[in-house]
Amino acid sequence: MDILADRLKNIPTYLFMQLRDKIRKAQAEGVDLISLAIGDPVEPTPAYIIEALREAVLDPANHQYPTDEHRGMRVFRDAVSRWYGRKYAVQLDPETEVLALNGLKEGIHHFIMATVNPGDIVIVTDPGYPAYRANILMAGAEAYEVPLLEKNGFLPAFEEIPETVCRKAKAFFLNYPNNPTGACADKDFFTRLVAWAKTHGILLMNDNPYSEIVFSPGRRLSLMQAPGAKDICVEFNSLSKAYNMTGWRIGMAVGAEKIIQAMCRCKENTTSGIFNAIQLASIKAMDDGDGEIDKMLAIYRRRRDTVLRAFAAMGVPVRPGDGTFYLWIPVPHGRTSLDCAERLLDDAGVLVTPGTAYGQYGEGYIRLSLTVPDDRLEQALERIRSLAGKVW
Ligand SMILES: Cc1ncc(COP(=O)(O)O)c(C=O)c1O
Repeated sequence: MDILADRLKNIPTYLFMQLRDKIRKAQAEGVDLISLAIGDPVEPTPAYIIEALREAVLDPANHQYPTDEHRGMRVFRDAVSRWYGRKYAVQLDPETEVLALNGLKEGIHHFIMATVNPGDIVIVTDPGYPAYRANILMAGAEAYEVPLLEKNGFLPAFEEIPETVCRKAKAFFLNYPNNPTGACADKDFFTRLVAWAKTHGILLMNDNPYSEIVFSPGRRLSLMQAPGAKDICVEFNSLSKAYNMTGWRIGMAVGAEKIIQAMCRCKENTTSGIFNAIQLASIKAMDDGDGEIDKMLAIYRRRRDTVLRAFAAMGVPVRPGDGTFYLWIPVPHGRTSLDCAERLLDDAGVLVTPGTAYGQYGEGYIRLSLTVPDDRLEQALERIRSLAGKVW
């Protein structure tokens, strides 16, 4: 009996599950593998957030179904609204324009289920975060991929999207600061994009979990700052990357009331709410965490400089983006991304992500993550250097 539903047949196992399998296999074979492949901060969640969780966990009131069940506690939504006001000067109504999520990734699923019909087009960027495509396919919709090219600063040339595609497109997924390229958008780009999307009746979603991981503070942006954004846009954010809370599964969707309410209807019928104690600790993180974010940025900056120096010494110029903790590194002429990643794995015991894991326009690059301890990063770079001439 074929138990697999048709909607899953074209969807591969999630990329990072495949990578975790590779890591386990290498470890079982006794290889001292260094993974630079996954964007999961190695530093623990700051102590003051854990303390807030400890207090909240001890309160039996938090052991029951979450308060305000599906959409998040009112105090959590208030904190999100304060956070967006303080960081981006974006005013959000916590009653109607904020939804708590079990991690940002949950929002991608609810957005698509709530707004996209079978046969619709959803515009995504290539390279892009693999979860978009998987959810689009699950909904019986079609992904139209716009290339992100270095010559355009890894921003999509949206004005060139054919009219026939725009007519069928329900939504456009963006992600700035961008995984995997590290590129940041600017206000002018967001303003032009929102105006264009309005004329075409296309909903916009900016996936913004790296909003705080930006090296020039002036470049930290929210799509919701663009004029008219609240009519057609939502933004998803997360505590995962900025507060070293990937395991906690907590994020938020904000923006256009109609989209937020539609997502909420999907959420209340599927995953319900989030453990109150996690929401309460997250409020503390958002209100008091700026200093810790600065500390993490200094760490990523130091690691980024270490990598850039190592590649420069091998004669490989790497132009870093201004955001995220990823480096998008060109592979040498004549090699494919996969070939390069396999050589690094087999000959150096260093796991990186081949660019093609994010789409066909990822060919020619590998992605390297700075979420490893400094000494392991140095070791990995030393191993890569020892292959000089063989890979680069
Ligand atoms: C672009 C992008 N969106 C979403 C996520 C997932 O965020 P969360 O941990 O909040 O689900 C990631 C994690 O790597 C990401 O890179």
